[in-house]
Amino acid sequence: MSGDALIFFSDFDDPQAWKKTLTGELPDLDFRTDPAAGDPADVRYALVWKPPAGFFARFPNLQLVTNLGAGVDSLVGRDDLPDAPISRLSDTGMVSLMTSYVLFSVIRYARDIHIFEKAQRRGEWKYVHPRALSDIKVGVLGLGELGARAAQALAGLGFDVRGWSRSPKKIEGVACSAGPEALDGFLAETEILVVMLPLTPETRGLLDARRLALMPNGAKLVNASRGAVVDEEALIAALRSGQIAEATLDVFTVEPLPKGHPFWAMENVLITPHLASITVPEAAAREVAESIRRVRRGLAPLHLVDARRGY
Ligand SMILES: NC(=O)c1ccc[n+]([C@@H]2O[C@H](COP(=O)([O-])OP(=O)(O)OC[C@H]3O[C@@H](n4cnc5c(N)ncnc54)[C@H](OP(=O)(O)O)[C@@H]3O)[C@@H](O)[C@H]2O)c1
Repeated sequence: MSGDALIFFSDFDDPQAWKKTLTGELPDLDFRTDPAAGDPADVRYALVWKPPAGFFARFPNLQLVTNLGAGVDSLVGRDDLPDAPISRLSDTGMVSLMTSYVLFSVIRYARDIHIFEKAQRRGEWKYVHPRALSDIKVGVLGLGELGARAAQALAGLGFDVRGWSRSPKKIEGVACSAGPEALDGFLAETEILVVMLPLTPETRGLLDARRLALMPNGAKLVNASRGAVVDEEALIAALRSGQIAEATLDVFTVEPLPKGHPFWAMENVLITPHLASITVPEAAAREVAESIRRVRRGLAPLHLVDARRGY
């Protein structure tokens, strides 16, 4: 009889933490970190972050591939994927971290903290009369598991929040619009833009020079999804001209952001090293275990990814 094994691969995530939490949920699971160990025919589940090319080929019985993260752009673009459902991680820990990053970034602009940071460096007492949050228009691009929660949290604080996605959504307190035809009008009304879109062939370079120019002069941008959704050359030009006054960037087309990149020297850019949100194994393992239980019962896993759509 064949076994029921999981193969783990990541240069980033801690295998021991995952082994402990996942086998805590599924004590009978044969958790493997060495692809060469045991009979590859026993391996039914892969839990991976950027495995090397050809990784999946040695496991003929894969029934589930789980991406160790929310963004699947590096996985779905591969030409060596097995014929198995792909699921992504999503857990309350990851959602809370992302929500906190978005709230911090938006509040920093809304409460003029970026201005006071600069004034303090000059030793200057600079009074800026605060604006009511309800007057400040915040737009969230992407209303998925992370974007929707961030938009709700912003609305809960009293911001004037609008959101944009591919298919129409209803989110309390958030004015939702959908589809390419709605994007120009959405940008024209957005003072602080939060990018929460996955990187797909459709979203790559979506925020180009033309679209950045549609935003009100002096708008702010927060990108915590994927760097390449924004045309970085266009953003640099917009930040230099003042069309975009400030940007908070957690993600970049090339990571780590190379030494000498123009963003490093820009006073109006806040850089964080791709950590707006991370997977918390203790919370995420419950979801992965539930997906495995579902697959064992012949059901679809949680957080299924549509590889053709790209997210
Ligand atoms: N910086 C970090 O630390 C970090 C951590 C985790 C995740 N991320 C990034 O955050 C991204 C978003 O995560 P998520 O979990 O919220 O993703 P998700 O659940 O897949 O949601 C994606 C959202 O984007 C919308 N969308 C996708 N393509 C679109 C298009 N062409 N036009 C308009 N809307 C489009 C979707 O619309 P529909 O709802 O209509 O499908 C959905 O609302 C991930 O893909 C990942 O790249 C970054």
